[in-house]
Amino acid sequence: MDRPLLNRRLAEFGTTIFAEMSALAVRTGAINLGQGFPDADGPEEVREAAVRALRDGRGNQYPPGPGIPELRTAVAAHQERHYGHLGLSCDPDTEVLVTAGATEAIAASMLALLEPGDEVIALEPYYDSYAATIAMAGGRRVPVTLRAHPESGSYCLDLDELRDAVTDDTRLILLNTPHNPTGTVLTRDELAAVAELAVERDLLVITDEVYEHLVFEGEHLPLASFPGMRERTVTISSAGKTFSFTGWKVGWVTGPAELVGAVRSAKQFLTYVSAGPFQYAVAEALALPDAYYAGLRDDLRTKRDVLAAGLTDAGLRVFRPSGTYFITTDIRPLGESDGFAFCRALPERAGVVAIPNAVFYDHKEQGAPFVRFAFCKSVAVLEEAAGRLKALTA
Ligand SMILES: Cc1ncc(COP(=O)(O)O)c(C=O)c1O
Repeated sequence: MDRPLLNRRLAEFGTTIFAEMSALAVRTGAINLGQGFPDADGPEEVREAAVRALRDGRGNQYPPGPGIPELRTAVAAHQERHYGHLGLSCDPDTEVLVTAGATEAIAASMLALLEPGDEVIALEPYYDSYAATIAMAGGRRVPVTLRAHPESGSYCLDLDELRDAVTDDTRLILLNTPHNPTGTVLTRDELAAVAELAVERDLLVITDEVYEHLVFEGEHLPLASFPGMRERTVTISSAGKTFSFTGWKVGWVTGPAELVGAVRSAKQFLTYVSAGPFQYAVAEALALPDAYYAGLRDDLRTKRDVLAAGLTDAGLRVFRPSGTYFITTDIRPLGESDGFAFCRALPERAGVVAIPNAVFYDHKEQGAPFVRFAFCKSVAVLEEAAGRLKALTA
């Protein structure tokens, strides 16, 4: 058969770097700081809530399409509790949709809101499912590069570049804050500028805020809370990051009823529903006291600091993340410039696995010297990794 099996839209997304690097970690016994999953499960009482739901026969059959009412109510209460002071609230019946993780929420949003040929502006480096789902929907991605400033260890959004990227074919901006892989938390001014642009050019915005509770400096500002944004914004979050149950794949969408309804139309033919008993557990998790959220943040801040110190000692230049559980580093101080080659050699050289940031770019050259390490691991594992990384300068 001459014709390739994988269709043209997906040809560039054959296999992910995460599979390659995780296999390398297994083969070499290296510490895997590549993929972002915690090495300890979330709260015991949340796990028990899932067991109880399963035993009590709650959620073992198809739950309601939009999600169980308990979880939709809990998501609405969460929005009110954390962002009510910013004027955000939502109706649990019409403005909340439960999804199979943020990943399905992203895919369903693209499939629902794009016509073939529509342009989507995404900040690069970007989470890998963005490019694939834009392609599935027949959209065209238009990357706007977050500019690295190694001297100050930060990334900035070039607002002129963002403005220039908008054309008559732009349908939506796809935003992610706190941002994977750079750890950047967009500032109030940057978000205000995105909001102004979206209003001025009448664009929709999908904002991926799965790391909303992992902000170490400053506060998380939902884009939907900016003037003129509520009616044009689809906000996405997930229990995976906030409660350390990435395998449960419980995510959600909030926004105005018309947008959430559109996303629901696509979602119902992707999975229809998912994670029945886990939905009950996540409803309970969302109501955990403030001390839980503060504890999660403080714990990860400590871990960030342990790994950042280790990476600095190992001769890498660290972009200190204000949020997420990833640290991006610049490998050029070690005399290296190719992140792919560096990451492929790292398990042998130092017994650690990391991810080359170039995989998150269209402009690969912009990401070439940068490498991402995850710090959602125990302090002991991070200290061991830091010790091993000293081999880079030995
Ligand atoms: C920015 C971002 N969005 C979405 C996801 C996926 O979330 P979920 O596991 O809930 O599908 C991730 C996971 O790493 C992520 O980093």
